[in-house]
Amino acid sequence: MSDNLFDIKVGDFYFRNPIALAPMGGITDSTFANEKAIDAGLVILGGYNLDSATQKAAAEMVSRGRKEFESHEPLKVIGDELKAVNEGPVVGINVRSSKIDSLIKAAELVRDAGAILELDAHCRQQEMIDIGVGQALLSDLPKLTEWISRIKETGVVLSVKVRANVVDDIELVKKIDAAGADILHLDSMKEGAGADLKLIKEVRDSTRMFLICNNSVTGIDSAKDMFTRGAEMVSVARAVLEDPGIIGQLVNRVSIQQEEMGWYNAPKHVCRGEGDLRGLAFCCLPVKPCPVHNTIAKLGYSAQEFADIKNEFAKGTMLEYGDSTCFGSLVWCCKISKPCYLRDGVLETLGLSDSEYMRLKKELADYILDHAKKPVNSQA
Ligand SMILES: Cc1cc2nc3c(=O)[nH]c(=O)nc-3n(C[C@H](O)[C@H](O)[C@H](O)COP(=O)(O)O)c2cc1C
Ligand code: SF4
Ligand code: SF4
Repeated sequence: MSDNLFDIKVGDFYFRNPIALAPMGGITDSTFANEKAIDAGLVILGGYNLDSATQKAAAEMVSRGRKEFESHEPLKVIGDELKAVNEGPVVGINVRSSKIDSLIKAAELVRDAGAILELDAHCRQQEMIDIGVGQALLSDLPKLTEWISRIKETGVVLSVKVRANVVDDIELVKKIDAAGADILHLDSMKEGAGADLKLIKEVRDSTRMFLICNNSVTGIDSAKDMFTRGAEMVSVARAVLEDPGIIGQLVNRVSIQQEEMGWYNAPKHVCRGEGDLRGLAFCCLPVKPCPVHNTIAKLGYSAQEFADIKNEFAKGTMLEYGDSTCFGSLVWCCKISKPCYLRDGVLETLGLSDSEYMRLKKELADYILDHAKKPVNSQA
């Protein structure tokens, strides 16, 4: 597969595909990544315990049988591990600390090594929660957001890993966004129910941060469920332990999807109630009562303004054509997966492939969001 098939970027980092290895303390080191995730777009190693309080907590966790990376020289370990990962994937380092100073030092190290730092606001082991680390940060937003801002002052590209359904997720996401994080790594866990797909869509509609989602991904169908709700990347943890080939299989399947479809994480249609705001790229001219009206209102568009913004984008592109379609141009046409001989006839006449059509729809979705009168992350 070509390394340029996907156009996925955060800061100066280009990911060659949207599949990531998620961190598992005591397990996901460079050896594990090299053996089981060599095809991934991103491998996140760790979590590493940066200060004496987290190291003590980790030792207690180990004494009750949990795996952890134990070291009193975590920065040396991280430096060595960063050098030991084979070329290919971008590398992330997942860290925990009860003190900002050690997070800053790790951020500087990781930045200089050309990797991404990930702050663990996710771990729910009692020993970590008791010292205000991991998931405990979700309940202390002033501390979490101050730490994010301070870490970002180093210039590192920062991911924040959170567990869903612990606090008000939308408030949390907006605060993390406003504090300057680059990536939200969302464990979309819903207790007893696997991944919370509805929440992924709601989060997608609350932020334009780069969104990595996980929980219970075991194959392409569960990954697709997350992509269609707005995940830019899907990460996998436990399934890699069960099936060491899963990352390679996911990369293969999503690459085929991208080659054929042109927009690997294309949203669902808005009318089904499952489509996020990007789905407006597939909406009709807003002339009849339907869910489009509520959806455009979230972005501050009137029906006329929505029509104008789509027409403005279409001008000079292939989406301008299509007299024989329902609303006179491809800019109002449906997702390629919806069978339609009218649209497909126009595409054939124009010589526009399915994937080229969908790439234009992706650009259109970005254009609609970029020009919103109420930006996505400002919504109440
Ligand atoms: C054994 C184990 C250790 C984990 N350690 C960490 C960790 O150190 N830091 C972190 O942010 N998440 C950690 N996680 C959470 C995973 O990264 C992931 O969010 C979670 O397992 C859900 O994804 P999955 O369903 O693909 O396993 C751990 C998960 C497991 C199973
Ligand atoms: S405008 Fe068309 S695609 Fe959009 S919600 Fe209404 S009926 Fe569905
Ligand atoms: S012509 Fe086909 S693709 Fe276009 S809006 Fe009508 S039904 Fe949808």
